[in-house]
Amino acid sequence: MRAIDWDAGTIRIIDQTLLPGEEKVLTLASTAALADAIRSLKVRGAPALGIAGAMGVAQAASRSQAATTQGVVRDAEAAGRELAATRPTAVNLAWAIDRVLKLARDRAKDVDKDKLVVLLEEEAQRIAQEDANACLAMARNTQRFIPTKAVVLTHCNTGFLCTGGYGTALGAIRVAHEDGKEIAVLATETRPLLQGARLTSWELGKLGIPHALIADGAAAGLIARGEVKVVVVGADRIAANGDVANKVGTLGLALAANDAKIPFIVVAPTTTIDLSVPNGARIPIEERSASEVTSVLGHPVAPAGTYAVNPAFDITPARLITAVVTETGVATPPDVASIKRLATGGGSAPAASRRAAPRPPSRKPAAKKTAKKAATRPAAKKPAARPVAKKPGPKKAAAKPKKATAKPKKPAAKSGRKR
Ligand code: MRU
Repeated sequence: MRAIDWDAGTIRIIDQTLLPGEEKVLTLASTAALADAIRSLKVRGAPALGIAGAMGVAQAASRSQAATTQGVVRDAEAAGRELAATRPTAVNLAWAIDRVLKLARDRAKDVDKDKLVVLLEEEAQRIAQEDANACLAMARNTQRFIPTKAVVLTHCNTGFLCTGGYGTALGAIRVAHEDGKEIAVLATETRPLLQGARLTSWELGKLGIPHALIADGAAAGLIARGEVKVVVVGADRIAANGDVANKVGTLGLALAANDAKIPFIVVAPTTTIDLSVPNGARIPIEERSASEVTSVLGHPVAPAGTYAVNPAFDITPARLITAVVTETGVATPPDVASIKRLATGGGSAPAASRRAAPRPPSRKPAAKKTAKKAATRPAAKKPAARPVAKKPGPKKAAAKPKKATAKPKKPAAKSGRKR
């Protein structure tokens, strides 16, 4: 099944809070249950939130006890309001709810309530299928930024779990791997809720893509010493000027990537673009409970009463972004004109206005060679993913980075079946 699915009038999701320990499918038969699942991140990631919102509205219509078509629409609208209020940053949620509600209002005049329910269910499933198609198209459009041999750094979880298909950034990495590119991934753990450690590592393991998990705080140092060829992330909302809201920590990665002159790529469907918001400062940032910071997966790690702040997202300004890639094309550099072109389906920017991908620094630290070597070993032969810093050989030991760096002690999940 997909990470979020529709089954005979009910919504089914893989409970992401239990992964990787348990793969449990939940049935969400009411708007309240779905709203709770969204708030608690059982279902999460911008495109999946859109699909959830669309299905939630359709489900509310199908369960409505109203006697008239207009009454069904009112129940669907009430569900839409409840669901839209759950998470404010990912625009896909409000966008998909609005799309289904617009159809409900438009068709309520000419169909009976049973037919209306069918139309809304079909629309929700169409949104899921369109997202799956968009995943493949944006993954293809991203390939020009992913070299044939590379260590790619990614943040949070942007894969199958949070879309209708392959994923956004992780989908592009998956297609690169399937195309035969020798890719190794550095996955940030993504505090506070560890979407990278729990979910991205799980997906990469299943896909058989070599990877190493790193602490968030390790990313800038690894980028600075040349261990990373390209940073690829997703987005929760893209403003009209190309500023991007994504999981907290994304801004720091963009700053590090720019300083190291490596490309910083944002991969997202056009449903994540919000032309009504002129710039990143106008994107609402979700503030989550401080307890997510003072605890790790429910275990307190700070003294009782410690004050903490927990913004779930940050804003990366367009000037730090090499390219925004969608299913309709590539905006490089991202700016008002190129983002509008993507949002309206107009394709890539003309070649003349493309920003050249930043070149890596000319001085090549020894660590970079090591990372490259590890990344270019064929995935099938690798017992464990070690994108960075192999064990130093006797000759070059002095020039190598310290052993501890980004070298998973235990083998990561072995190559698994592809979904
Ligand atoms: O809080 P989350 O886990 O829903 O945040 C998810 C992200 O920030 C993703 O990077 C983003 O939604 C892009 S997903 C395809």
